[in-house]
Amino acid sequence: MKSAPDTRTGFTRRSALLSATAFGVGVAADRVLGQSSSNDEVPADAEAMQQNAVAFNGPRQAGIATPPPEFMTFAAFDLTSGSIDDLRGLLQEWSVAAAALTKGQPHQVGSDVPGVPGSDPGEADGLGPASLTITVGFGPSLFGVGGPDRFRLRSRRPSAMTQLPVFQGESIDPARSNGDLCVQACADHPQVAFHAIHTLTLIAGGIATLRWSQDGFGRTSSTSRSQATPRNLIGFKDGTNNIRFEDAGAMDDYVWVQPGDGPSWMVGGSYLVARRIKILFDVWDATGLEGQEEIIGRQKQSGAPLGGEKEHDPVDLAALRAGRPIIPPDAHIRLSNPETNGGRRILRRGYSFSEPPEPGSGQIDAGLFFISFQRDPEQFVSIQRGLSESDALNRHTLHTASALFACPPGSKPGGFIGEGLFA
Ligand code: HEM
Repeated sequence: MKSAPDTRTGFTRRSALLSATAFGVGVAADRVLGQSSSNDEVPADAEAMQQNAVAFNGPRQAGIATPPPEFMTFAAFDLTSGSIDDLRGLLQEWSVAAAALTKGQPHQVGSDVPGVPGSDPGEADGLGPASLTITVGFGPSLFGVGGPDRFRLRSRRPSAMTQLPVFQGESIDPARSNGDLCVQACADHPQVAFHAIHTLTLIAGGIATLRWSQDGFGRTSSTSRSQATPRNLIGFKDGTNNIRFEDAGAMDDYVWVQPGDGPSWMVGGSYLVARRIKILFDVWDATGLEGQEEIIGRQKQSGAPLGGEKEHDPVDLAALRAGRPIIPPDAHIRLSNPETNGGRRILRRGYSFSEPPEPGSGQIDAGLFFISFQRDPEQFVSIQRGLSESDALNRHTLHTASALFACPPGSKPGGFIGEGLFA
């Protein structure tokens, strides 16, 4: 990669990489600690569990199947360099940094002297690994979709990587959408997630700039049977009928890209869809409990499907009461159910967000930062198309940002995320 000196600090990215390795946060440390927990499953190693560390290296990227912790910072970047060597170098440096950060170790961006620009920014000191996961993805624009083929990667584009279509009723802000690269950082502590994005943004300096970012709190789903179902900001349990990573067959069928699905560099990866969905609280809060339950199709307190008693009772879409469907025709869980969608399923892994109101609007700006992972973006597109046309929840929500990223498989210690793309 090009090692342009940074005139502000006098260090180069190459020296940053070397110094990171020299200080024990690179390849050697990976060999010692990288095997302690596998991101392919819930960490099994006692030491890793004590430390709440989720290994960065592994066959799959962490942050997809791994149980979501409570906080997330998500960032999208645009490449300012047109050099494929710079892109490769950036992914290498991000991978070295991510391996260190997920162990709770500082990462020297360019200087090993604390307090000197380029040293670790320091705000996560003492907070430990905090279950940090770092997940990297590539946007359609990286492959020349909608613009020039800056990196000559068009021939390597998975056919699934196009811009998401326009859906009925959405109001998408392009400035908060899309991007060449994304990083999803999830952690038990918001400052650990922030620190990860802060550090990776520093590393990207001169090669990629931050396009948009989104903080999230309160996971809105579970991806493991070990996790209780959380509530989202409309007060309903969310994630009851999600795919769980323990269901390896469903993960292969619906989440992980399989051999033959497209280019081999994506096998073992997954496609990430992000949608910033504002909840229109003035309308929602004016809706009574019964009305809210009919919109979702579940009971608010227990999470049970209408017509059922317990949260995990099966959803019976055929059940009638007085000749009418108990779960209304426009209920969210009817329209998003696999039965209504030709068997399509997705892995939901979103977070709630809350931001300052638009000045003068007097309205809460909060909602769901929806994230789903799927083997093919078509799964999301098909489900969302049906929802956008008929979901009763549409009167209470507005999609304001949208993005699609291809998250390649995980990397080996000493390798880097997306390595196969450059093979
Ligand atoms: C603010 C927006 C949204 C809210 C508040 C919301 C809320 C919920 C709730 C409370 C459930 C029932 C519990 C569960 O099974 O997880 C649910 C289920 C579900 N939602 Fe959403 N959701 C939203 C947007 C979306 C979007 C955009 C999609 C996909 C395009 C989606 C897909 C699903 C799916 C697949 C299910 C499970 C259906 C089943 O198999 O029973 N949701 N959602």
